[in-house]
Amino acid sequence: MASVRTDSGFFVIFCLLSTLSTADLSGSFEMEMYTIPKILATCGQNLTLECDIAAEKDIEIKTFFWMEKQEICFYETENQTGPDFECRGLSYTKNSERYYNYSLTIFNVQPKHKGTYHCKLRSKQGVLNGKTIVRVQKCVGNTSTDVTPTEGSCSFKDVFPEPVVFWNQGLENLTHLAETKVMQSAEGLFSVVSKIELKKDPSNPDHYNCSLWMPLENDKNETQVQFVRAMSFSDAHKLCGHLCGVMLPLLSLVFLA
Ligand SMILES: *[C@@H]1O[C@H](CO)[C@@H](O)[C@H](O)[C@H]1NC(C)=O
Ligand SMILES: *[C@@H]1O[C@H](CO)[C@@H](O)[C@H](O)[C@H]1NC(C)=O
Ligand SMILES: *[C@@H]1O[C@H](CO)[C@@H](O)[C@H](O)[C@H]1NC(C)=O
Ligand SMILES: *[C@@H]1O[C@H](CO)[C@@H](O)[C@H](O)[C@H]1NC(C)=O
Ligand SMILES: *[C@@H]1O[C@H](CO)[C@@H](O)[C@H](O)[C@H]1NC(C)=O
Ligand SMILES: *[C@@H]1O[C@H](CO)[C@@H](O)[C@H](O)[C@H]1NC(C)=O
Ligand SMILES: *[C@@H]1O[C@H](CO)[C@@H](O)[C@H](O)[C@H]1NC(C)=O
Repeated sequence: MASVRTDSGFFVIFCLLSTLSTADLSGSFEMEMYTIPKILATCGQNLTLECDIAAEKDIEIKTFFWMEKQEICFYETENQTGPDFECRGLSYTKNSERYYNYSLTIFNVQPKHKGTYHCKLRSKQGVLNGKTIVRVQKCVGNTSTDVTPTEGSCSFKDVFPEPVVFWNQGLENLTHLAETKVMQSAEGLFSVVSKIELKKDPSNPDHYNCSLWMPLENDKNETQVQFVRAMSFSDAHKLCGHLCGVMLPLLSLVFLA
């Protein structure tokens, strides 16, 4: 059984079947390797990939390693921890089967971590290879709003994949009145600023609402544009209209008195 763990279970296992690599041996020694073929991870999660080996007897292991574009960790006996990853290995016997389970945990998964992760075991009994494809989505970093008497804006940083911004005020769709700029950083993350001219309509009591939507993949390999985050603010002019119109004269009266 292949397994994948996460501290918060915030990602979808793409395919519950595990891939299987069986050593090609001339003898009768049997051993198998299990990995999850594909994982859809959510930004910020700790993602654990598993590469598990089951054998009928002890394996005389020469090397085991994880690699993506380059080697991530190489086991002899020790577990290894890097700044944003951790590699662990353990072995045990259960029901007269030998298990060698290796895991790679990526902390705070980001789009730069997407790729194909390979695990490879070399032993006196043969070679086993496994792989897991990792995709990363639904990233939103810092967000903020800014309101002047004439204009409101929403900004979203470190977004992935490329989003769209919609605007509404109550039931009214204001998207066509907004101007949205999307920029991409060298690491592939998007930053978005969307501005809207305020209508100064005192009869509309609703807040301006900007919402961030992105094309997200689901567990059926379909992509759908989905709502991810919204922010809202009220008309600064209207606020001042109320406060300045009522409070200020009152305050000056108090001061005058
Ligand atoms: C080791 O791997 C096997 C096969 O995937 C799995 O059934 C078992 O639960 C794993 N054991 C641990 C302690 O992770
Ligand atoms: C990821 O792991 C680190 C270190 O163990 C921990 O501090 C952090 O809270 C974890 N993050 C999540 C989202 O579980
Ligand atoms: C490596 O990590 C595993 C799983 O947490 C643990 O069971 C094992 O004792 C560790 N091995 C070493 C050599 O520290
Ligand atoms: C997000 O905002 C907080 C508080 O303003 C700041 O400390 C942090 O550096 C920001 N993070 C990024 C990635 O810009
Ligand atoms: C709002 O208008 C935009 C285009 O101006 C459109 O793409 C979007 O689907 C509309 N949203 C709703 C909820 O009708
Ligand atoms: C803002 O718009 C989003 C997307 O349409 C919606 O889910 C959310 O409830 C709205 N928030 C407010 C305060 O209107
Ligand atoms: C999933 O979709 C991608 C394109 O988005 C395609 O290349 C791939 O073959 C699809 N995989 C499956 C299992 O349908």
